[in-house]
Amino acid sequence: MSKKPVILGIESSCDETAVALIRENNEGKAEILSNIVSSQVDIHKEFGGVVPELAARAHIEKIDLIAKKALDESGLHLSDVDAIAATAGPGLIVCLSVGLNFGKAIAASLKKPFIAVNHLEGHALSPKLNSKINYPYLLLLISGGHSQFLCVEGLGKYKRLGTTIDDAAGEAFDKTAKLLGIEFPGGPQIEVLAEKGDPTKFDLPKPIINKGGCNLSFAGLKTAILRVSKKIKTKQNKYDLAASFQKTVEEILYKKSKIAFEKFKKINGNNRKTFVVAGGVAANKKIREILTKLCKEENFEAIFPPINLCGDNAAMIALVGLEKFKQSQFDDLSFPAKPRWQLDENAAFLKGAGVKI
Ligand code: KG4
Ligand code: ZN
Repeated sequence: MSKKPVILGIESSCDETAVALIRENNEGKAEILSNIVSSQVDIHKEFGGVVPELAARAHIEKIDLIAKKALDESGLHLSDVDAIAATAGPGLIVCLSVGLNFGKAIAASLKKPFIAVNHLEGHALSPKLNSKINYPYLLLLISGGHSQFLCVEGLGKYKRLGTTIDDAAGEAFDKTAKLLGIEFPGGPQIEVLAEKGDPTKFDLPKPIINKGGCNLSFAGLKTAILRVSKKIKTKQNKYDLAASFQKTVEEILYKKSKIAFEKFKKINGNNRKTFVVAGGVAANKKIREILTKLCKEENFEAIFPPINLCGDNAAMIALVGLEKFKQSQFDDLSFPAKPRWQLDENAAFLKGAGVKI
């Protein structure tokens, strides 16, 4: 039997330093051999957000240790690796450069192919690490810097159906958390606090809910939270506001996904109805529940990555690397870091659609 390709993936676009090894198995599926993620949360906590220079320095300090750990855990040697895939964008340029140059250096020394990966494509394909999915599928990508609906037609082939016109969903979670006095990164904590609150307590706006097709907007919601949070007196008020915010985001995503379903069906007909939700916010259990409910109502198949693969990781980067490797799509070592890199390069350039600002 021929040797199955092994890909080393590297991710350093923001505040996670990550290295993973994956190998294709006999069924043609990617198998994760190791997946190490080192978070910098403790470094950035006191600043209430990611400080690019500190993040870059932490990547430099950690990346070779993380790579060694990933290799050790996989039980493989560098000589077993067939190609190196590294995130080249979008993200913070000082951070991207660390993983990208590290990957290029390994590729050059091993004389193995180098593959530059779009971080968003990593999220887009991440559910393929545990589910079989056929193209085309509808993708809702909801992360800290991006919120968009895309028709995924194949590797590297994306058609944007809608995007946020201001903040990303994860950004709304993080900003709400900050206003409620929750330490960075507060998104996941909102979900926990929301469980103790009354979601009907505060009536919050759902910007552009009845216009703009499946475009999204969260900035007005954030402004409303700022106003209401000033009146918060008790712990219970805080839980109620977290619950009302969580519920509002659920309702926005439910309604906008329903519109995106119609757009997707217009393009692809009624036979291909798969809805993939990926990115950090896809870890939110209530959002998973409401979108699963919508899929049942609309006869779509709902697919989510496992919770541990929703946030930034290198297994998803290695997976894109594997798919590109199989199509011999290799990149030159001069491939630049791209802070802005949209999946649908023909779509109008907008924040939240391939831009982290
Ligand atoms: O995909 P990701 O790890 O990084 C980016 O590419 O941006 O997403 C991070 C975002 C953060 O805004 C974080 O607060 C949010 O995902 N997030 C969540 C949850 N877990 C992470 N938001 C809501 N509920 C969660 N459980
Ligand atoms: Zn991400």
